[in-house]
Amino acid sequence: MKVARYTTYGGPETIAFDDAPVPRPLDGQVLVRVRAAPVTAGDARLRSGVVPRGLGVLMRLAIGLRRPRVAPGWAFAGEIADPGTSSFRQGQRVFGLTGFKGGAHRDWLTLPADGRLLPLRKGLSFEQGAAFFFGGLTAAEFLIDRAGLAPGERLLVCGATGAVGGAAVQIGRHLGARVAATASPANHDLARQLGATVVTDYRIGPPEGPFDVILDVMGKLGWPGARPLLAPKGRLILITADLAQMLGSALHPRRDGRRVITGTNADTLSAMQRLVDLHLAGGYTPRVGPVLPFADLARAHGLADSFHKPGNIVVVMQHDGSIPETA
Ligand SMILES: NC(=O)c1ccc[n+]([C@@H]2O[C@H](COP(=O)([O-])OP(=O)(O)OC[C@H]3O[C@@H](n4cnc5c(N)ncnc54)[C@H](OP(=O)(O)O)[C@@H]3O)[C@@H](O)[C@H]2O)c1
Repeated sequence: MKVARYTTYGGPETIAFDDAPVPRPLDGQVLVRVRAAPVTAGDARLRSGVVPRGLGVLMRLAIGLRRPRVAPGWAFAGEIADPGTSSFRQGQRVFGLTGFKGGAHRDWLTLPADGRLLPLRKGLSFEQGAAFFFGGLTAAEFLIDRAGLAPGERLLVCGATGAVGGAAVQIGRHLGARVAATASPANHDLARQLGATVVTDYRIGPPEGPFDVILDVMGKLGWPGARPLLAPKGRLILITADLAQMLGSALHPRRDGRRVITGTNADTLSAMQRLVDLHLAGGYTPRVGPVLPFADLARAHGLADSFHKPGNIVVVMQHDGSIPETA
């Protein structure tokens, strides 16, 4: 089988493929035939080492000084090829997370049956299953758990059509908020389709406030830009934040009766299940953007590096239908 690997920190050309035997599931594990996997902003950052100011050293201490010692691929959708002793069925469609240590960018995958793995809902394609969790988990946790977005509140999503922003617009609207958005002009129609009622070009300026919650996807508005737009008791969510902004929000979250929120979201099974419930309630369906063959993984990384992608980039794996001998 084909397995992707990061060779060093750098551009998309630093991705290599190895041939490896299909893994044999251990006790308690299942074998998944991977059909599709997203190439996320997180994958691009782990590969390039390019992260917001102040976080580079911390990241390299965590995952490797000279090269990323994690495997490419944060999430996947596929089929159970060997259920082991689990209650999954052979051939059952599933989707799940390998998490930031990665490993989903390969043809076959073993993982614990009781891990971050769920049946793929009827009506979702493998591509949608692959795209499902990245932006959705982030948007749901920050809007619901951290900011406590309430029905009738006014939400501004800055950068509304990528993985996180596209999910935030849908979930915000589903929660009963009035949603305004910023996007580049080519994406204004998409932002409206996702649920925004007012859309402006972020290069010109945000829509007129006030807003109860501002979700700033790329952190470009920041506290200085958000402050005049925030209502009393308003919350600013910086999805992308540098070290100073993170420390500032931890040590000094309340400012003029408003609150600044930063951090990372938890990718737990219960959070995944909640997102599935939001989908079933009609509140969220991921938007699939470019779909490329797995062999074009480097090209997919090049697109993810831009931070201007509509929705989610997905790579699809080719299989001939048979289950090969395992290692
Ligand atoms: N805190 C966390 O736990 C967490 C979790 C996930 C992701 N993130 C971070 O969130 C960021 C976005 O991830 P993503 O997957 O959503 O990326 P993405 O799919 O590439 O989307 C980026 C979005 O930002 C917009 N944008 C680009 N430049 C902008 C600017 N100057 N001002 C306003 N908007 C701008 C883009 O709009 P146009 O395409 O219209 O230009 C696009 O909608 C990344 O930095 C990622 O590392 C953080």
